[in-house]
Amino acid sequence: MRTQVAIVGAGPAGLLLAHLLHRSGIDSVVLERQTREHVERRIRAGVLEHGTVEVLREVGLAGRLDRESMVHHGLELLFEQTAHRIDLTALARQQITIYGQHELVKDLIAARLDTGRPLLFSAPAVGVSDPTTASPTVHYVADGQEHELHADVVAGCDGFHGITRPACRATTYTRDYPYAWLGVLAAAAPSSPELIYAHHPDGFALHSMRTPEVTRLYLQVAPDEDLAGWPDDRIWTALATRLDRADPGWRLTTGPILEKGVTGLRSVVTEPMRHGRLFLAGDAAHIVPATGAKGLNLAVADVLVLAAALREWYATGSEHLLDAYSRTCLARVWRVQQFSAWMTAMLHCSPDPFTQRLQLAQLRDLTRSTAAATSFAETYTGLPMPTEWSTGPDQS
Ligand code: APR
Ligand code: PHB
Repeated sequence: MRTQVAIVGAGPAGLLLAHLLHRSGIDSVVLERQTREHVERRIRAGVLEHGTVEVLREVGLAGRLDRESMVHHGLELLFEQTAHRIDLTALARQQITIYGQHELVKDLIAARLDTGRPLLFSAPAVGVSDPTTASPTVHYVADGQEHELHADVVAGCDGFHGITRPACRATTYTRDYPYAWLGVLAAAAPSSPELIYAHHPDGFALHSMRTPEVTRLYLQVAPDEDLAGWPDDRIWTALATRLDRADPGWRLTTGPILEKGVTGLRSVVTEPMRHGRLFLAGDAAHIVPATGAKGLNLAVADVLVLAAALREWYATGSEHLLDAYSRTCLARVWRVQQFSAWMTAMLHCSPDPFTQRLQLAQLRDLTRSTAAATSFAETYTGLPMPTEWSTGPDQS
């Protein structure tokens, strides 16, 4: 099989890239290791930056999102038993959108299938050959047979555990954290209209949500925490303790836990994000700790840059934007890595008394200094998308 762009991975990065390329009249084939049900069922974060929503609207992918999502104009920082609201819209003139990212993946898959262009599930890529030639080949397995997909370009959108990053001659920079998140999805109405980030001596806690009936909550636990040691009542007790505040009117709403799991936190960046005609995007190139909810939003920024660069190349033959791809993405990736690492270090309970005092000083500064709060709000709601890389006209 031959195509212009071979896309490995049908997560947000691969699916959005396929959509942007299709709009520009560029053909692609998407190869996905898992089944459609597996991809759509995977629990993901729930925050979309304003820039991400604007891109999705611009390219016709925000229909259901605009009907079903919730828009938030602020969030709460809770520490020393006191809640402080950060008015994101007043400070940064932007808001965030709460929409399950797995719902967005369903929308992206449906949009891809509507084009009739190839999206192969249960078709794992097993290798990339000749990435530095003008005709790289993706080797994949489908129906028990090995196949070859020849392309002009390969987009590695296969996430942290994919096969494309190892095919690049790149350096990987990593930071691991001495804690993980125990996440629960509960059939319980959110206890607050907005997100709550809680710094507590027992550990960090996060109150988020998916719908007016479903709450998403997280607890800081040890990196090797055994989920079996966390029956539902222990989870609710810990959440109630960490989310408690001096305000007697507030209480945590509980309900049946639908899903629970432990997720590690790590920071990873791969440099460069390119090897010949193989371009990495999204989690295949970088991982951020979930604290800042930046994973999907960073993937969107990468594929905006890559789609615009490919559009330029196919239209004019100029490789200028392709040559700038890695540099352009990494400038934003490292800024977002810094924000995510800083937010993670500030909020997660540390056994070191000096660190605890630094954390509280930083949190107090965020609630007292408009400049500090503005900087936080601007990065949390989303740095400007690489605006010089427009999504281009719809030529599909
Ligand atoms: N061949 C084909 N597909 C593969 C292979 C392979 N060898 N290896 C992995 N995949 C698929 C995975 O099954 C997954 O569906 O690649 C996809 C990668 O998707 P994500 O891991 O979601 O990564 P990305 O698309 O970059 O999404 C970025 O969005 O929702 C967030 O948490 C998510 O941080 C992630 C972000
Ligand atoms: C989520 O709703 O899953 C979520 C929200 C905010 C975060 C991380 C995760 O910072």
